[in-house]
Amino acid sequence: MNQDVKEILYDEAALARRVAELGKAISQDYAGKDLLVVGVLKGAVVFFSDLIRAIETPLEMDFIAVSSYGRQTSTTGKVRFIKDLDVSVEGRHVLIVEDILDTGNTLKYLYDVMCSRKPASVKICALLDKPSRRTAEIDADYVGYVIPNAFVVGYGLDYAERYRNLPYIGVLKEEVYQ
Ligand code: PRP
Repeated sequence: MNQDVKEILYDEAALARRVAELGKAISQDYAGKDLLVVGVLKGAVVFFSDLIRAIETPLEMDFIAVSSYGRQTSTTGKVRFIKDLDVSVEGRHVLIVEDILDTGNTLKYLYDVMCSRKPASVKICALLDKPSRRTAEIDADYVGYVIPNAFVVGYGLDYAERYRNLPYIGVLKEEVYQ
C-alpha cells in the first residue's frame, strides 16, 4: 500500500466486480440505442476505460475537460470548461461518466450544458457519490459506491495531481494534505 494512504476502501477485485455490475446495467438500459459515453477528464479516465469494456452494446466515446478544484482540497464552486466534445450530441443518448460526485457543481454544469444541446437523453454514471457534500441539485443515475466525506485517492482520483495511478481507492492520510 502507498505510504500516504491510511486505508483501502475498495481494492482492485472489488472495483472490478462493481464496474462489471454497472456495465451490465448500462448494457441492458441502452440496448438498441445510439449511446455516446462522455468521460470527464482527468479523474474519470481509469474508471471510464474499465467501464466501457464492461458495456456490451455498441457505443461511441468522447471526452470533455473541466476544472473545479485546481490544487485545493475543496471545491470553489466555479467550473471551468477546458475541452469540449468533438462530436454533436443532438438526438443521441448521452452518458456522462465521472469518478466522483461531490458538491455536484461539476456535474450540474455538465448536465445542463448537455441538455441544452437537444440530446435524446442525458444520464450520469459516477463511481463514487458523497451525498453529504452536495450543494447543487443533481444526482447520478448509476453509482458505484456511496461514500462518507473522506479524502479519497486512486483509480483516477488525485490529490495535487498525484495518486491517480493507484489501482485501488484509498483514504489519504490527513498529514499529507493538512
Ligand atoms: C473532480 C472530479 C469531478 C469533480 C467533482 O475533478 O473528477 O469532476 O471534482 O466535484 P464536485 O461534485 O464538487 O464538482 P477535479 O476538478 O479535481 O479534476 P480532475 O478530474 O482532473 O481530477
